[in-house]
Amino acid sequence: MESQLSDIRREYKKNKLAKENLSSDPFEQFQHWLDDALHSGEEEPTAMIIATVSADGHPSTRTVLLKGLENGKFIFFTNYESRKGQQLAGNPYISLSFVWHKLERQIHIEGKAVKCSPEESDAYFASRPYKSKIGAIISPQSHVIRSRMEIMRAFAFEAAKWAGQTIKRPDNWGGFAVTPTRFEFWQGRESRLHDRFQYTLEKDGNWKKERLAP
Ligand SMILES: Cc1cc2nc3c(=O)[nH]c(=O)nc-3n(C[C@H](O)[C@H](O)[C@H](O)COP(=O)(O)O)c2cc1C
Repeated sequence: MESQLSDIRREYKKNKLAKENLSSDPFEQFQHWLDDALHSGEEEPTAMIIATVSADGHPSTRTVLLKGLENGKFIFFTNYESRKGQQLAGNPYISLSFVWHKLERQIHIEGKAVKCSPEESDAYFASRPYKSKIGAIISPQSHVIRSRMEIMRAFAFEAAKWAGQTIKRPDNWGGFAVTPTRFEFWQGRESRLHDRFQYTLEKDGNWKKERLAP
């Protein structure tokens, strides 16, 4: 039976937002919502879709996992020579989107990404499972390969090479730290009259909080 995409819809009625109930600090508000998501039964509550832009202005998106929120910076890890890594090297502006369907919520964040220090990347790399470390070493992420066999062979070879040793982080793999200049908190409401609030960073360093039309 052909599915009728146009018929798929549901009402959002789980919650609502009022300006006075939102923290004046968007990081604190983010932490509240992340805590809710972590307890919501959402499959991947730390998954975020990140958008980057190529040198010729073409946007692209993919999912990564948030691995830290430290000193006002959102941290994720990846291959620096991947498509996203190359795009960020040319244009550091980035947006992050969290979508938590069970809570009928989304958060959008815009800001600038810089590479984490080698020490920060080393510390996170050291915490990864053995096989993930090998995978990070052997995968030329986002580059064309001939076959899955090619990558499986490289995996077996590298795993044998490092057997019994501490695996060193490859230079082309590490973290990015995103410093936000804008946040948007979205709560689904009935009849598509959703609640939306944006926080924008002002010149004096304060965050301005405003309601947006749904
Ligand atoms: C739930 C989920 C989590 C992911 N987490 C990461 C991650 O933390 N880092 C990463 O490099 N890729 C992650 N990926 C894979 C990316 O979405 C993407 O395929 C890969 O990074 C290559 O992207 P690029 O070619 O745009 O650079 C994840 C994918 C999914 C579905």
